Amino acid sequence: MAVLNLLALIIATLLLLFRRTSGAGISPADTLNSGGNVTDGETLVSAGGTFTLGFFSPSTTVLTKRYLGIWFTASGTDAVLWVANRETPLNNTSGVLVMSSRVGLRLLDGSGRTAWSSNTTGASTSSVAQLLGSGNLVVREKSSNAVFQWQSFDHPQNTLLAGMRFGKNLKTGMEWSLTSWRAQDDPATGDYRRVMDTKGLPDIVTWHGNAKKYRAGPWNGRWFSGVPEMDSGYKLFSVQMVDGPDEVTYVLNTTAGIPFTRVVLDEVGKVRVLMWLPTSRVWKEYPWLPRDACDEYTSCGAFGLCNVDAAPTPSCSCAVGFSPVNASEWSRREASGGCQRDVPLECAAGNGTAVTDRFAPVHGVKLPDTDNATVDMGATLEQCKARCLANCSCVAYAPADIRGGGDGSGCVMWKDNIVDVRYIENGQDLFLRLAKSESATGERVRLAKILVPVMAFVLALTAAGMYLAWNCKLRAKRRNRDNLRKAILGYSTAPNELGDENVELPFVSLGEIAAATNNFSEDNMLGQGGFGKVYKGTLGQNVQVAIKRLGQCSGQGVEEFRNEAVLIAKLQHRNLVRLLGCCIDGDEKLLVYEYLPNRSLDSIIFDAASKHLLDWPTRFKIIRGVCRGLLYLHQDSRLTIIHRDLKTSNILLDADMSPKISDFGMARIFGGNQHEANTNRVVGTYGYMSPEYAMDGVFSVKSDTYSFGVIVLEIISGLKISLTHCNGFPNLLAYAWSLWIDDRAMDLVDSSLEKSSSCSEALRCIQIGLLCVQDNPNSRPLMSSVVTMLENESTPLAVPIQPMYFSYRGLGGTGEENNTSSSVNGMSLTTMLVGR
Ligand SMILES: *[C@@H]1O[C@H](CO)[C@@H](O)[C@H](O)[C@H]1NC(C)=O
Ligand SMILES: *[C@@H]1O[C@H](CO)[C@@H](O)[C@H](O)[C@H]1NC(C)=O
Ligand SMILES: *[C@@H]1O[C@H](CO)[C@@H](O)[C@H](O)[C@H]1NC(C)=O
Ligand SMILES: *[C@@H]1O[C@H](CO)[C@@H](O)[C@H](O)[C@H]1NC(C)=O
Ligand SMILES: *[C@@H]1O[C@H](CO)[C@@H](O)[C@H](O)[C@H]1NC(C)=O
Ligand SMILES: *[C@@H]1O[C@H](CO)[C@@H](O)[C@H](O)[C@H]1NC(C)=O
Ligand SMILES: *[C@@H]1O[C@H](CO)[C@@H](O)[C@H](O)[C@H]1NC(C)=O
Ligand SMILES: *[C@@H]1O[C@H](CO)[C@@H](O)[C@H](O)[C@H]1NC(C)=O
Ligand SMILES: *[C@@H]1O[C@H](CO)[C@@H](O)[C@H](O)[C@H]1NC(C)=O
Repeated sequence: MAVLNLLALIIATLLLLFRRTSGAGISPADTLNSGGNVTDGETLVSAGGTFTLGFFSPSTTVLTKRYLGIWFTASGTDAVLWVANRETPLNNTSGVLVMSSRVGLRLLDGSGRTAWSSNTTGASTSSVAQLLGSGNLVVREKSSNAVFQWQSFDHPQNTLLAGMRFGKNLKTGMEWSLTSWRAQDDPATGDYRRVMDTKGLPDIVTWHGNAKKYRAGPWNGRWFSGVPEMDSGYKLFSVQMVDGPDEVTYVLNTTAGIPFTRVVLDEVGKVRVLMWLPTSRVWKEYPWLPRDACDEYTSCGAFGLCNVDAAPTPSCSCAVGFSPVNASEWSRREASGGCQRDVPLECAAGNGTAVTDRFAPVHGVKLPDTDNATVDMGATLEQCKARCLANCSCVAYAPADIRGGGDGSGCVMWKDNIVDVRYIENGQDLFLRLAKSESATGERVRLAKILVPVMAFVLALTAAGMYLAWNCKLRAKRRNRDNLRKAILGYSTAPNELGDENVELPFVSLGEIAAATNNFSEDNMLGQGGFGKVYKGTLGQNVQVAIKRLGQCSGQGVEEFRNEAVLIAKLQHRNLVRLLGCCIDGDEKLLVYEYLPNRSLDSIIFDAASKHLLDWPTRFKIIRGVCRGLLYLHQDSRLTIIHRDLKTSNILLDADMSPKISDFGMARIFGGNQHEANTNRVVGTYGYMSPEYAMDGVFSVKSDTYSFGVIVLEIISGLKISLTHCNGFPNLLAYAWSLWIDDRAMDLVDSSLEKSSSCSEALRCIQIGLLCVQDNPNSRPLMSSVVTMLENESTPLAVPIQPMYFSYRGLGGTGEENNTSSSVNGMSLTTMLVGR
């Protein structure tokens, strides 16, 4: 069937070419008169040729889904800007767009049924449809150029172009908003919406279902408070904002001389600004929203401030006069509980002498969510301050319009909580209400602002000096070890104190570990990884454990190591190996894990003698388990943890052959440099690294998705990714792809599975594997989607795009080779991704 469709398309295209060439000199039409039509293979092209309207399939491999859309001619259907029948694809190439005098534009399928209609009221026999030079498809009276009976710019989808309106007309209820595609090759309405929020000050909000995800910040007269780039940055656009009682909208106007630029809300909710570079024929991407973790909506809770420059990870702090609601949660970087006042407001106690409160400024921030705030555009800042002071429910105020210095054109006042505040360059001032008794502290704070950094520096120097001295002494004498450790860690390892609530991770002494591992004897060694050696041991009364001895020079402080270990110990999931304890002794750092008798997946699945132990149901169980464990690391635990070194040898099997991911804490346990150094050394894991990580060191949860895809294909085929030749193909990915595209995907399934495999499950897994190893990280699914795909057979699957990068190059080669040739590879990757 696919072949027939392909033929039909080729014939249609040839016919079209023939028609075009035989009518040489006549440029393609941009207008459709009443009664006219556009069939599959034909197009309308805007005057000047910038935009094309026609039929297309978003994925190059499946032609059973045909859409009518408008795209940027130069880059073809890679840049589809608008789709008529986004929810109702046609299943073959017999669709036709007709211009009807009754309803305007109508898209009919081969049997004459309507797949989409513009429902134009007022259309008549003298109406025409035209694709304008702006990319707008309009229906208008033939005689009237400026009045549109219908226009595609009134129905934006995932793309905003210069000249398009965005926002709301409060009078008519008309709304112009963006909705994401469901997947990169599925234009159906996806999970993300980006809308103008007209409660309080105008704000642009990205929603994920019913949850706010990102917020541009309140409009301040010149830009949206959290996006100062709009005013000062790239100058790609000017923004014509209308902020009136009837209408809150803006129109982007491209700066003269700038190449074609589009703004896209992508499938994962990210706003991307893409500029076409005509000479190199690629899209250049400008970073937009979200830029970093602080753009995540209300990441620091009420009265929390997010600061992305705080090394090494973005961090939350409380505003002056506030402290974390739950300090223990906060110390685990779970800040969404927010902050509370140190001193309650006198006003709130019903005293009535509210004027005793005072305001403390917070400088340089994106203003909080104004949904429940009161906006008064008539008041001056002084008036606002007085008004806020007099009203006990007012907790903060800020200038609403910064034009003219922000004094005199209105202000906004918050009640209850303030949420979603971050520090930002070119940020604004926010004035927070504090109790008067807080004011002495306030005065001190100003002084402290100068003194604290100086003192901290001096203290840090002293501490570093002391630490070095202490360390040397320790090494020299190796005495008093336990006492020192007690002093540093704050508690001892005495067994009777282990029940103490503070002790979250049992400490095991080096002596116990040495005894358990027969003094780290070679016989007890289970393996050796990038981070150190692993030993089997028996602790206490026959508790079997695996002990990881970390490299001697991890470059990390004792306290940091302890915090990280405690953190990892809290990650509990049935598909993660459990950390049971740790040990710090001088230079020694050891982690004690649960011991799993069946060892690692690679030792079974690639072993001819034992691979039959894993029948299809077991392998499917392993795939689902790994997927769930990874999902937990990525989003279900309170932190986002990226494994970065996921491979079959890091998947351990328990007695039931349930998988458990190991080594997941390593990325956090080691400082940044150390980790990267290790990754480069581990040549064997090269095949599991995504192209962007292997070449540019860029990693995200999607790098783990890639590794997961590789593992899925390995589990199904029983073939190693590291094989340099795979049935005549450069590697497993190329082999799997070739079978998939030839409709022989079942040939990939390991022959040792014989009858145990379920054809439909295996095919789904292969397709999911291929979706996960796509070159473009944005095309790879999130683990949450993968779980759904695996658990629910009726979930439709996207069609994978060929993994070009590693398939062409092969995976052979060491990390070092990869390093030296990375710039060349970087270029070829970019070209391949964009030129497809
Ligand atoms: C499309 O137009 C052609 C003439 O150009 C006509 O023969 C054909 O019937 C039309 N198709 C539809 C579905 O209106
Ligand atoms: C498209 O759908 C129609 C009816 O639903 C069916 O008759 C036709 O065979 C389908 N075409 C393809 C290519 O699947
Ligand atoms: C295309 O699909 C329509 C239904 O969607 C069907 O009526 C028509 O016969 C199909 N045409 C071809 C050539 O398969
Ligand atoms: C056109 O009207 C029909 C029937 O009222 C409706 O089902 C369809 O969704 C409308 N199409 C658009 C694009 O609004
Ligand atoms: C867009 O900006 C240009 C100058 O760069 C100006 O001439 C034009 O009028 C603006 N368009 C709109 C719709 O304001
Ligand atoms: C803080 O949070 C932890 C874990 O969520 C909880 O067990 C504890 O009771 C909380 N403490 C307070 C004071 O709410
Ligand atoms: C009200 O505030 C005044 C001035 O700060 C203070 O003297 C008085 O004790 C307060 N009364 C109550 C009931 O809190
Ligand atoms: C605004 O008030 C509503 C209702 O009390 C509440 O659900 C919502 O979270 C508030 N929004 C903000 C940003 O505080
Ligand atoms: C106090 O402020 C709240 C919220 O800002 C507002 O709803 C209320 O009307 C104000 N009360 C007075 C007396 O101004």
